[in-house]
Amino acid sequence: MAIKLFKNANIYTPIDKGSPSAGKEQNLLKNFPKGGIVVKDGVITAIGNIDDIEKPYRIDNTIDCKGQSLIPGFVDPHTHICFAKLRESEFEMRLKGVPYLEILNQGGGILSSVEAVAKASEESLYQNSLKHALSAMKFGTTTIEIKSGYGLDTENELKMLRVIDRIAKTTPLDVVATFLGAHAIPLAYKDNPDAFIAIVVDEMLPAVKSQNIASHCDIFCEKGVFSIEQGRKVLEAAKRLGFKVKIHADEVNDLGGAALAAELCAISADHLLAASDSNIEKMARAKVVATLLPSTAYSLRKSYARAKVMIEKNVPVALATDCNPGSSYCESMQFVIGLAVLNMGMTPAEALVGATLNSAYAIGVADRVGSLDVGKQADFILIDGESPAMVAYHAGVSSISAVFKRGENIFFNKV
Ligand code: NIG
Ligand code: FE
Repeated sequence: MAIKLFKNANIYTPIDKGSPSAGKEQNLLKNFPKGGIVVKDGVITAIGNIDDIEKPYRIDNTIDCKGQSLIPGFVDPHTHICFAKLRESEFEMRLKGVPYLEILNQGGGILSSVEAVAKASEESLYQNSLKHALSAMKFGTTTIEIKSGYGLDTENELKMLRVIDRIAKTTPLDVVATFLGAHAIPLAYKDNPDAFIAIVVDEMLPAVKSQNIASHCDIFCEKGVFSIEQGRKVLEAAKRLGFKVKIHADEVNDLGGAALAAELCAISADHLLAASDSNIEKMARAKVVATLLPSTAYSLRKSYARAKVMIEKNVPVALATDCNPGSSYCESMQFVIGLAVLNMGMTPAEALVGATLNSAYAIGVADRVGSLDVGKQADFILIDGESPAMVAYHAGVSSISAVFKRGENIFFNKV
């Protein structure tokens, strides 16, 4: 296999010490201003200042990075990009002041996406999802988590997970699949959500497990959706089957989802707009990653999650797009980083660690991606700027020149 050298790169990478970066450490990056990376079989075999690494290797192919910044590919640890139809009219309703949860309670929102998935052929669901996966890639995402959750019955949840699996097999992206059977209460179970929870636990989870097409399990705990008790039931059952668990927690109301995440040692708790201080402290003690989704707060016009409080309390903060047709129609981790820096007060370094290393930990893939280290995959992006701060600074515009996955150029934007 050919050995490649990427030279003349201004390399910035998080420092992986074997656990997510928390507290002051989230603000630390390693920088090699005259950096180089040697790649063999898609894996980094050397990284550092170019003078230190070039000699011992017989290089087949040299790529000149022309002094641009080189950072790890973004890891987006929370998306719902497997959907069949957009919901533009609902966006207009929200602009007129109708609350997000009210639209859901009227049978729209997530439930209208459920209807669209049920009607869609597997092929059209795949084509639509693929479009969003490739869009994410062009904005620098090289690893992505994708949830089911617009099926809400065994047949359609499995259909979604097969589509997610096909995205994994037909794109250069690494894909982590999450089963989110408990995403909303189907209309037929409106008055008896416990009966639906029983189906999730007794029928859907074992079916997903037997097909081995999801590694994580998630639930939407929210007022009018699923309670903490129902969350505990689903996630404990998932843990028994070997799934890693995570929670849509305290997105609109402080129900105690963050505390449940701590109790269950979840891999992450996501959203947390309304999480209380004491529950954030519980997350810190249980080492649960806080996955924050600022483009959702932006789109719902809500107060942002308190990233700085979480960092101060030693909770590792990850960033994600939450890309979905309702609360956050956004594939761009660059936009998310911009919001994190300008509206949540994170430093550019904290945001970069949140969008790469900590997000890799939030979906259990930090052994392979999330930082630029010997033995990890050569997943990185070139940024047209002196430092990663350019991503937040150059608002609303992609700063990416090129995206590399396992050392291969998968997207090329400009020289
Ligand atoms: O993370 N809150 C629940 N689920 C998604 C939204 C899904 C949708 O509106 O389609 C979220 O915000
Ligand atoms: Fe979500």
